[in-house]
Amino acid sequence: MIAAKIDTITKDFEVGDTMIRVLHDVCAEIKMGELTMLVGPSGCGKTTLISIISGILSETSGSIHLLGQKLTSMKDKQKVLFRREHIGFIFQQYNLLPALTAAENAAMPLLAAGVSEKIATDKAREILEKIGMAGQSEKLPRQLSGGQQQRVAIARALVHNPQLIICDEPTAALDAKTGKAVMEILRNIANDSNRAVLIVTHDNRIYHFADRILDMSDGRITGDYTPENFTHKE
Ligand SMILES: Nc1ncnc2c1ncn2[C@@H]1O[C@H](COP(=O)(O)OP(=O)(O)O)[C@@H](O)[C@H]1O
Ligand SMILES: [Mg+2]
Repeated sequence: MIAAKIDTITKDFEVGDTMIRVLHDVCAEIKMGELTMLVGPSGCGKTTLISIISGILSETSGSIHLLGQKLTSMKDKQKVLFRREHIGFIFQQYNLLPALTAAENAAMPLLAAGVSEKIATDKAREILEKIGMAGQSEKLPRQLSGGQQQRVAIARALVHNPQLIICDEPTAALDAKTGKAVMEILRNIANDSNRAVLIVTHDNRIYHFADRILDMSDGRITGDYTPENFTHKE
């Protein structure tokens, strides 16, 4: 099954009194059971593209289907609900709330969906344990290392069991060892045939975790590789 179908997406931004086209007819398919990486130099349009795939930003033209549903024709409110239910996000900045514990932070998507606090934080603790954070659930973000905070952000992205996990530079702020541990968690998730992981990165230390690498440059997808033939190309 296809997790996301991106069909001829263009995006223009208004800068002063001119329009700048930052995405040019982008087409791609993100498959279930796969870890797809979107790579390319800074400024080539990666964040813009995943923001459109997530429904956070509107496209100028083209269409996006997520999990068989047409995102493009949804109203804003529907998009928000769809995103909350089916997508998990992991950003480069962890965006944790400083006054909440690890478990409370990780429980946020369930709380937003109206799940009771007890059930939501129990579920969050269970996921935190699974990703090597047993014993850290009641700590505040400032009591955790960068790698541990990123794991809290991962738990938050997974707590509501989304089918599509989208990550923007998830290892950029991490040392090599922690980055590898984080990638192993994401790799495991993508092995589930009902889930897809899409990662924006330019960290070549993690390319080998991918099933597919989409190479982007100047607002276009210029190649679709496996990690093996991509490394040869580089
Ligand atoms: N809101 C915006 N208004 C104008 N230009 C933007 C806006 N957001 C991004 N851009 C421009 O679009 C291009 C792509 O940006 P971005 O998607 O953030 O690239 P990447 O994530 O690959 O570094 C860049 O040239 C950036 O300056
Ligand atoms: Mg970016």
